[in-house]
Amino acid sequence: MKSAIKMKEVSDSVYIKRIEEVKSKLGDGEILFLFAAQHKIRNRDVEYKFRQDSDFYYLTGIVESDAILFISKKQAGMFCLPKDKEKEIWTGIRLGKQKIKEKLKLDVTYDLSDWDSQKTELLLGNHTLYYFFGIDSDRDKDLIQTAKLVSSRAREGNFGPEKIIEPAFLHEMRMQKSKEEIQIISQAAHITHLGHERIIKESKPGMYEFELESILEAEYLKHGSWGGGYGHIVAAGKNACILHYVDNNCVLKDNDLVLVDSGAEWNYYTADVTRVFPAGKKFTEAQKTIYEVVLHSQKNAIQYSKEGVEFNEIHKKTVYFLADCLKEMGFLTGSIDSIIEKGTYRKFYMHRTGHYLGMDVHDVGKYYIEGKSRQLKNGQIITVEPGLYFDPEDETIPEEFRGIGIRIEDDILIDGKNPVNLTAAIPKEISEIEALKS
Ligand code: GLY
Ligand code: MN
Ligand code: MN
Repeated sequence: MKSAIKMKEVSDSVYIKRIEEVKSKLGDGEILFLFAAQHKIRNRDVEYKFRQDSDFYYLTGIVESDAILFISKKQAGMFCLPKDKEKEIWTGIRLGKQKIKEKLKLDVTYDLSDWDSQKTELLLGNHTLYYFFGIDSDRDKDLIQTAKLVSSRAREGNFGPEKIIEPAFLHEMRMQKSKEEIQIISQAAHITHLGHERIIKESKPGMYEFELESILEAEYLKHGSWGGGYGHIVAAGKNACILHYVDNNCVLKDNDLVLVDSGAEWNYYTADVTRVFPAGKKFTEAQKTIYEVVLHSQKNAIQYSKEGVEFNEIHKKTVYFLADCLKEMGFLTGSIDSIIEKGTYRKFYMHRTGHYLGMDVHDVGKYYIEGKSRQLKNGQIITVEPGLYFDPEDETIPEEFRGIGIRIEDDILIDGKNPVNLTAAIPKEISEIEALKS
């Protein structure tokens, strides 16, 4: 029997409503340009697998390269690749401007070849262009020049953009997840659970990290995911102390812990989960000690993840707890205040406790407004991922702790006073992990 829904059909009405919402946020004289992703060369004439730009997908649900969406208060439209039988035989079916117009109930659609002549017309009479800089520098330059050109027609009584700014309001929309989006991330979490549980069970000394990676990827693909939402980190032994380790080419040894940070992407939303387990059957005593500290801090941090709490508070409390434990265990000296003030804890805990999660693993949205940490709101999804890392080469650290790297990460939906752990089913108690390996 097929266990999981392979694909989620998201109704066009979701995208139509989002485009309407953007329209309603724009004032007179404001226009948004949003560009679809482009194909990227991997090597010579081989391309990376195409993934649509998250913002573009969020507003359109359309998986075609090169398209351009524009929205103003009065109208929404798109430029897209033209229907072309010969090209479609090689690279796949294109919707074309008629179908896209109907699908998204747009006011107007054009072939992409009309962009150069139409962009000046679109900018005319708008004082503000909303646009994401920094994705394509040629495009940035072109738009600045075009805006200037349109502005220079002021003498004819017209005007063009004086301001080009990032459409932060779009990211505010993405921060708040709908019921439908929460269902999609929950499915990504479910598939992630299947992958993580298999590798906890099947790993053993002598296997290579990439063998575990291949199991994760196979399990994700089998259930309709497109693979990891980011590069899988499979780090045995001291490799766990390299935070962005993606080489995944070492062998698992007896007494190694294995840190796996991996999340399935499903229908453009990703999970982000870290688990740590022994390569063999049991944790050593030193590994257990550190694991329990991190697990305790992670459970506390999940409990702090409530509506109205400043996001940075979760990190501050987690740092305090971990610093206190490090001092208790003799890894840090001095008062807890000085440990925190001087940042000496950073030798063992050098990253943040969490981030927003959604279509992008480090999802969009501002963490601070005017220097003040924002409060969490219902419907946001964040990760909670404290960790402790013991430099393998630091001879001041007792040998049995050197090279231990532990991070435990779950995906949490903010929901009033009761955080919902979307990845709770993935084992993280020492007893559960050892039972899976026995
Ligand atoms: N996997 C990236 C992170 O945990 O932030
Ligand atoms: Mn994360
Ligand atoms: Mn992660």
